[in-house]
Amino acid sequence: MDISCVSTSPIQTKADVLGVFVLASSASVANAAHFLPASLKKEYLAHIQRIQFKAAYKKTALLFTHHKIPSFLVVFIGLGALQIKEEAIRDHLREASAILVRRARQYRGKKVGILLSPDLANAINDEGQGEAIAEGAYLGSYRFTKHKSKRKEESTNGDIQEIVVFKKTKEFSQGLQKGALESKGVLLARDLVNEPAGHMKPKDLLAAAKRIAQKSSRITIESFGRAQLKKMGCGGILGVAQGSTSEPYLIHLVYRSLKKPSKKIGIVGKGITFDSGGLSIKPSQNMETMKNDMGGAAAVLGLFSILDELNPQVEVHGFIGTCENMLGGDALRPGDVLTIKNGKTVEVLNTDAEGRLVLADALSYAVEKKMDVIIDIATLTGACMVGLGSDIAGLMSNNDAVCEGLAKAAQRAGEKVWTLPLEKSYRKTLKSDIADLRNISTMPYGGAITAGLFLQEFVGKTPWAHFDIAGPVSSGRSVNAYTGKGASGFGVRTLAQFIDMNYIN
Ligand code: BES
Ligand code: ZN
Ligand code: ZN
Repeated sequence: MDISCVSTSPIQTKADVLGVFVLASSASVANAAHFLPASLKKEYLAHIQRIQFKAAYKKTALLFTHHKIPSFLVVFIGLGALQIKEEAIRDHLREASAILVRRARQYRGKKVGILLSPDLANAINDEGQGEAIAEGAYLGSYRFTKHKSKRKEESTNGDIQEIVVFKKTKEFSQGLQKGALESKGVLLARDLVNEPAGHMKPKDLLAAAKRIAQKSSRITIESFGRAQLKKMGCGGILGVAQGSTSEPYLIHLVYRSLKKPSKKIGIVGKGITFDSGGLSIKPSQNMETMKNDMGGAAAVLGLFSILDELNPQVEVHGFIGTCENMLGGDALRPGDVLTIKNGKTVEVLNTDAEGRLVLADALSYAVEKKMDVIIDIATLTGACMVGLGSDIAGLMSNNDAVCEGLAKAAQRAGEKVWTLPLEKSYRKTLKSDIADLRNISTMPYGGAITAGLFLQEFVGKTPWAHFDIAGPVSSGRSVNAYTGKGASGFGVRTLAQFIDMNYIN
C-alpha cells in the first residue's frame, strides 16, 4: 500500500472511496460537502439532518455518489472539536484514518482518498497531520493472515492499494513518510509477536535480527549462544533456558550514525519466546497468551528495522536476551541460585519470574558496553496489568529527565504509559537469606514496582528506564481502530519518537 499527497481535488483525481475528515463545529459540518456537485450536496445535508451527524469523534456519515463524482462512496468522519491538546488531535487523526481504511475495505475500494478540514492547521502542524494519518492507515489495515489456509487469498483480496491525500505541502509529505516508516517498524513487531511460539523460537528471533542487520550498512550484529553465554557468565539467561531444548541467545545490535563520536543509547528487550512458567507452571488460562512474552524484543527489532531511514545522530545499541521458559528434566528448580553477569547472585524462588533473570544479564552487558542511557522494554509482570489495566504500560526510571522524555515521546506516539515509583523502602523485600537477591518479593503487593527494583540492581548508576508492557503488548479485543485484536507492536513508536527527539545528543 502506497500513501502520497497531491495538489489536485477529489473531483480531478479518482479515488474509489473518499474520506472527508470533519471537525465538530456547525460551520465545518455544513461546509464539509462544499466540493460536491449541488445535487450531492443537497443529499448530504438531508442525510446528516436525518442521522443528526455533528462530526463527533469517530462518528461517520456515508454518502453514495451514484457516479456523479469519480469516487463511488464518500465517508464523512468526525474528528470531534478542536479544543483539545495536540497529542489528542494526533490520535483523532489516526483513528479517523483507520476507520476510513476499514470502511473502504468493506466496500472493496482499492484506492482511497482523504480530504482534510482546513481548520486543522489551528491545532496541529502539517508534519504532525501527515504522520498521524499515515500511522492510522497502515496500522489500521494490518491483519495477520499467515496461518489462514483457504481464506488467506480471500482475506488479502480486498486490500487497499493506494491512499492519496488531497493536500500538498513539503511538511505534510514528510509527515506521511515518517508515519509510514514508523508503522513499518510496528508491523514487523506485530508479525513477530503474533507468530505462534512453535514458529518463533529464539533462533527465529535471531534470524529476524540478522535479516535487519544484513539489509543495513550501518547496523552490525553479534550473538552469543549457550557456550559463549557460559564463558561470559550469563547465569540468568542460561538458568531460564535450562529446561528447554532451544538454544538461548544474547543478541547485540549496533546502529552507528554517520556523525562520530556520538552518545550511546541502549535498548534492552525481553525475548522469552514462550513462558510456560517453568516448574512454577502457569495455569493454562494464563499460559494461552505466552507467545507474547517476546514483545519487548520485538519492539527492539521493530525499531532497528527503521533506524537507517530514521537516521538519528546517535549510536543505538539493541540488546535482546532470548530463550524459552520450559519444563525439562534439567529445568531450573525453585530454590536454585544463579550468578548474573555482573556477579550478583539470585535465589530463584519462582521460576515464572524469569524475565528479570534474563534482563539482569542483558542489562549488565549493556552497562559493560558503557551506554549513556539504557531503556528496557519487557512483558514483565501481571501485577502491572492489575494496577494499570490492559492498555497502559508501566514506566519506571532512576532519572527524572529520561522519564519525562519518554513520557512525552509516548504521548506523541499515542501509546499510553503511566509512571510508577521505584520505592526504595521496598528494596528490602528482595533480600535473600542465602544469596544477594531473591527473584520475587516477600511482599504480596506492588509486583510491578518490585520487579523494577530488581532490574535496578543491574544498571548501576547509568540513567535507565523500564517499560513494563505486559498489558498493552497484545489484546484479545480491538483496542481502537488502528490497534486491532492480537499484537500491538507497542513501544516501537515511542522509542522512535524518543530517539528522534534528539533527547540525549
Ligand atoms: N511473562 C510474565 C508476565 C506477563 C503476564 C506478561 C501477563 C503478559 C501478560 C512474567 O514472566 C511472569 O510470569 N511474571 C510473574 C511474576 C511473579 C511470579 C512474581 C507474574 O506476573 O505473575
Ligand atoms: Zn513468567
Ligand atoms: Zn515472562
